[in-house]
Amino acid sequence: MAKIMVITSSPNSDGLTAACGEEARQGAQDGGADTVHFCLNDLEIGKCSACGSGWGTCRQEHYCQVEDDFQKLHSAMGDMDAFIFITPVYWWDLSESAKAFFDRVRRCECRKETDTYIKGKPVICVAAAGGTGNGFLLCLASMERFVDHVRGSKFDFIGVTRKNSDYKLKTIREAANKLAASL
Ligand SMILES: Cc1cc2nc3c(=O)[nH]c(=O)nc-3n(C[C@H](O)[C@H](O)[C@H](O)COP(=O)(O)O)c2cc1C
Repeated sequence: MAKIMVITSSPNSDGLTAACGEEARQGAQDGGADTVHFCLNDLEIGKCSACGSGWGTCRQEHYCQVEDDFQKLHSAMGDMDAFIFITPVYWWDLSESAKAFFDRVRRCECRKETDTYIKGKPVICVAAAGGTGNGFLLCLASMERFVDHVRGSKFDFIGVTRKNSDYKLKTIREAANKLAASL
């Protein structure tokens, strides 16, 4: 059975980001996939240390030498067939926990040619904004850069705001369903 990892990155367990995560999980399961969900805020994932003169073991060994929960989550990505990344929009951008995680994943993945964890695998990105929706496109653009750096295959990019969440939550479920069915 195909496996899809859903990653959320909000401190609120009952907020919009969590609701998006639940729709994604349900949609993927309904589409026939096994899902695993991680909320980055429940894990200890610190910032990239830019080891050495800018690169550490990430460049050659594809392994981050900053020891925390990153290693466990990163290696679990190797068993996945697809990914759904969901962040709240903070300051027109990703949440801090998503930034820290993406920064470290991209360093480990961008130069890896074999046994890559994300390269060629389909990815859905979701940006969950507040009432204004300010910056949700820029947030999705940051996510697109990440997907390009790790050479994922773009399946969908979805912006959700408090004003459109009634139909965008359904869109997320539908997208996750189609993603799972495509695997
Ligand atoms: C520090 C911070 C910055 C935020 N910046 C933005 C923003 O730039 N644009 C926006 O539309 N909403 C912004 N918001 C609102 C959140 O995106 C919104 O409340 C979102 O639903 C949060 O997800 P949650 O429900 O999972 O907490 C911000 C919230 C916080 C806490």
